[in-house]
Amino acid sequence: MDKILILDFGSQTTQLIGRRIRDMGVYTEIIPGDSDLAAHIGDGAARGIILSGSPESVYTSEGAVPDRKIYECGLPLLGICYGLQRMTFDNGGLVEPLPEREYGAKEVKINLPPADKIPGGERGAAFFEAFNEKKFTAWMSHGDTLTKLAPGFKQYGTSVTGFPAVVAHETKPWFGLQFHPEVTHCERGFEILSAFTFGVCGCKKGWSMEQYIEEVRASLQRRVGKNPVLLLISGGVDSTVAGALLLKTLDADQVHLMYMDTGLMRKDETKIVTTNLEKLGGKHLHIIHCEDEFLDALKGLTEPETKRKVIGDLFITIQERELKRLGLPESYFLAQGTLYTDLIESGKGVGKKAHVIKSHHNVGSPLVDAKRKAGRIIEPLEKLYKDEVRALGRLLHVDEDVVRRHPFPGPGLAVRIPGVVTKEKCDILREADFIFIDELKKRFNDKGQSLYDEIWQAFAVLLPIRSVGVAGDVRKYGWVLALRAITSADGMTADVYPFNTKDLLEISTLITNSVKDIGRVTYDISSKPPATIEWE
Ligand code: XMP
Repeated sequence: MDKILILDFGSQTTQLIGRRIRDMGVYTEIIPGDSDLAAHIGDGAARGIILSGSPESVYTSEGAVPDRKIYECGLPLLGICYGLQRMTFDNGGLVEPLPEREYGAKEVKINLPPADKIPGGERGAAFFEAFNEKKFTAWMSHGDTLTKLAPGFKQYGTSVTGFPAVVAHETKPWFGLQFHPEVTHCERGFEILSAFTFGVCGCKKGWSMEQYIEEVRASLQRRVGKNPVLLLISGGVDSTVAGALLLKTLDADQVHLMYMDTGLMRKDETKIVTTNLEKLGGKHLHIIHCEDEFLDALKGLTEPETKRKVIGDLFITIQERELKRLGLPESYFLAQGTLYTDLIESGKGVGKKAHVIKSHHNVGSPLVDAKRKAGRIIEPLEKLYKDEVRALGRLLHVDEDVVRRHPFPGPGLAVRIPGVVTKEKCDILREADFIFIDELKKRFNDKGQSLYDEIWQAFAVLLPIRSVGVAGDVRKYGWVLALRAITSADGMTADVYPFNTKDLLEISTLITNSVKDIGRVTYDISSKPPATIEWE
């Protein structure tokens, strides 16, 4: 199967590049930016290499340096942002800081020679077919720029600030973009990636979910044999689909499913999780009731990262305690429903260069590390994106209600209650959140799709503020609730969902009428970036 290799230098959008190309039906493999190339091109499947962006600069020691062989192997190269700067710097050009960072939507002007003078022969012509407009709006995020092109390169596109935005080598199939074609807001982005993948690299489509299932199941059976597997279940799409994959591949008696009721979960979560796993054939369900332990540990804490850390640590403590109680043999495998996005948001992306925005506790723990070292960790979804996990879930007959479920963070309601977390606040938030989500499922857009399905993630946040109101002529001093609803491709960037005002007003009224402790409802209108999706 043809594949495109992506060298990850730590950009928050590296995995989006992979995702876009997979959507075109071509397999992508993301590897650390400084990987030994031979190990990844030996099978002859790689048709091209993309060099990703990075938060670092090429002229500091922080930026990873690719294997020199990428410039000698003859494969087509596409440098994106830092990737372009890397290609320039490594081949004798100059990269320097910009006077002011270029960020967001920026116009790019294209200046191509006549068709017969386009560089790089047929491959060059195929690449530049994607640039059939004289100007378009690209998406930029960089603090450095090329100040001198490397020998053999020419500039074919310029950003509004006058710096190079599109370059190509005159004789080799090497191309560079200062902007991010992988970001949905980038005009021509899809066409550019497609031109590189098919036109320049000549890839044939071969990536499908059916094929992925077959490969993963065969490898699971080979690795696990007759040993027991313990899967940590959160109740979300990912761990449920991972559970379905295990249950449909191994003997149900081998599969142990552990779920913790932390008291920070959504309404009726434990009941829903139990029903779903039983439907999938789960036999050994271990539900741990630890609500009091979590609420005790969170008492008085307000700082978001401290809350995350305390929750993460307690998860580990309880997990280890309960595992001992379970008494599985040493040889057991530990399974997790980790996705690639979980790894990168925690700064644990394959290139290990991404900056930590929030620590996701479900990515690493002493137990996970020990099991990883012993070669006994199973993460069957680690190469998949959210939408691909949903497609996989459908193929495995996971309930549609689970498959379409919005993501839910590991630390649960604790990061949706800024400030101190109490049981009372959790109960208020649970109820309000339930009403909001239930309404989204009952309301439809003009295409007949439910708002819940149109929205990528929605939830309520209980603010640590009370405000004055009036209820039946009596003064009311209720909590303020914020509603959040975003559209997104994968949670890496997000836009605010543009509700019809009528829907928002009706939902707000319903919440204040039904949840007596809430006195006021607001709608969060911040995109990501600069905000994140969760409030903490
Ligand atoms: P942010 O808030 O970082 O969220 O924009 C991006 C996506 O990740 C989810 N999220 C988490 N998921 N463990 C998880 O499994 C976590 O600790 C965590 N924190 C945030 C968030 O809901 C959104 O979908």
